[in-house]
Amino acid sequence: MDIEPRTRAPPTGGVEWTGEGDGAVPTLTRNLFTGSGPGDHRLDVVEGHWPDDLDGAVLIVGPDKREPGGHWFGEHGVLCRIDCRPGPDGRLGVRARRVDTRVARLRDRMPWLFTRVAFAELSPFGVTNLANTNVVVLDGRCFLGYDAGRPVEVDLETLAHLTPVGGNDEWHLGAPGVLEPLASVTAHPGLARDERALYFVNSSIVPGGPVSVARWGLSGPVERWPVTGIGGPIDSIHDVAVTRDHVVFCDLPFVVEPETFRGGRRTRPAQDVTHLWIVAKADLRSTPPGSPVPVVEVELPLPTGHLSVGEDDAGGVLTVNLEHIPFGDLMLPLDREARSHTTGEPYDVAYEGLVALAPQPGAVGRYRIDATTGAVLDAEVVWDDRFWGAVLTTRDQSTPAARASVDDLWYSGCGYDPELVSEDWWRLYGDGACHHLVHPDELPPEGRPASIAHFDMAAGKVDDVWAFAPGAAATPPTFVPRRDQSGPGDGYVVVLVHTVERKELHVFDSGDLGRGPLAVAAGGGWEPPLLLHSCWAPSRTGPRPSSYRVPLRRDVAGALRGLPGTVAGMARMARMAASEGRAGGQSNLARPVS
Ligand SMILES: [Fe+2]
Repeated sequence: MDIEPRTRAPPTGGVEWTGEGDGAVPTLTRNLFTGSGPGDHRLDVVEGHWPDDLDGAVLIVGPDKREPGGHWFGEHGVLCRIDCRPGPDGRLGVRARRVDTRVARLRDRMPWLFTRVAFAELSPFGVTNLANTNVVVLDGRCFLGYDAGRPVEVDLETLAHLTPVGGNDEWHLGAPGVLEPLASVTAHPGLARDERALYFVNSSIVPGGPVSVARWGLSGPVERWPVTGIGGPIDSIHDVAVTRDHVVFCDLPFVVEPETFRGGRRTRPAQDVTHLWIVAKADLRSTPPGSPVPVVEVELPLPTGHLSVGEDDAGGVLTVNLEHIPFGDLMLPLDREARSHTTGEPYDVAYEGLVALAPQPGAVGRYRIDATTGAVLDAEVVWDDRFWGAVLTTRDQSTPAARASVDDLWYSGCGYDPELVSEDWWRLYGDGACHHLVHPDELPPEGRPASIAHFDMAAGKVDDVWAFAPGAAATPPTFVPRRDQSGPGDGYVVVLVHTVERKELHVFDSGDLGRGPLAVAAGGGWEPPLLLHSCWAPSRTGPRPSSYRVPLRRDVAGALRGLPGTVAGMARMARMAASEGRAGGQSNLARPVS
């Protein structure tokens, strides 16, 4: 099937652009990278009435930036737990904690052993797992993901670090270390609730190196199967989804040019397509771990940040939603050398580290795909001119009915500030050669405010949008089901909003964003920086329902046993990189960490 997003016209009709920012020129707030760090807080409800039928907690993880500098993703993780129900004092409790891994504690004692290369942190212990990217909750347990490290488990209530998932001897390792050798494991696992298992992809930093699908049943060993059938070199694999019968994952554009570590500027744009891979669970069940299983590969126009897939794949047909990020570039952070394409001026230091969020409307592609052949049976890309600078989505995952078919996505975005389009970006993308929705020559001079939009994927349209005040950045959004939910999608969307004055939590009726926030909470000294992913956690009764831990002694032994193979792999990588360099190709010597 031919899919031509270049020529797709924006949808017409729909609701009017509502909200506070209509018609204003937004200049993005400058407080995104000045966070308050770990602590305990109580937020006041400063506007409206906080609904009384929310339970559980919203968890948000991200880099613990205290001040601007470096790259957005280049800081150790801080995890925030926000009570959804106000306490007797009418306030919302917030607990923020550093993800206190073993290596983080070692760094406290021996900081001189640690050094930064781009946004990776290196030491004799290995490549530090910053544990700052993703958070999921399954079976009363909380797991954090980071693409350049193993998942780690923290206590759902106290947020105390408990254990890495899988010993060093259970993952394919990409760089040596005596405690945390680099393990490239997707930050987003596929949650197979019916199996009480998580699925991951464990890849290699060697171009063309091994890629494995991994399954972990929340205790016991990690099972891994190398996959065959991946057509070409991979930038990064970040997100995995599972259906009843399949494991689905896609690539994330992540250009790493080693010259940039020495102050050079980027020379190549990110890829403008998505590769999607499908593995049949039946093949995993019939194949002993360690033996290869085949993948079906699909290539689609437009690059993708994240994906969601309905669990119901009856008849072997997958319905896949791809959150496209045309012109987005996670490896193009604003730095001291960057200049605005609009003004020619350097940037306020407050923006240092902000990556090139797509200066485009947010778009989600919905694809029906034959899982056996990879044939695309149907394709539609949904977008709307009222919603720009898309960052993250949320959806109802609280019931089997909600997970069977992903029809509702709530998507938050930071809008579009023309002055944040840098000369570097324009040099790479300004010719419009990459797949896109709005040509760079036609970008709106007046900008767009941050907003949240409801994507009705079943109907193929954006049917509800709320625009935030000028300058606000809104992310992440988190769906929270109503206590007595009437059906899938019935509930609330809680959004962290960075305003020019302060940081706020806005709660919306999921079925009526255009009404505006039902309530706003703020204060208590909680001033989080720009974070990353979030999820909703139902209240847990009782202690952690597991005693799983990877003992330190076994972890060190596993790291040391893996050393010879890891060093040999790095030597291969160096030879391939040198060979690619001579041929003028792209190297992925360093791996993405988000
Ligand atoms: Fe992500």
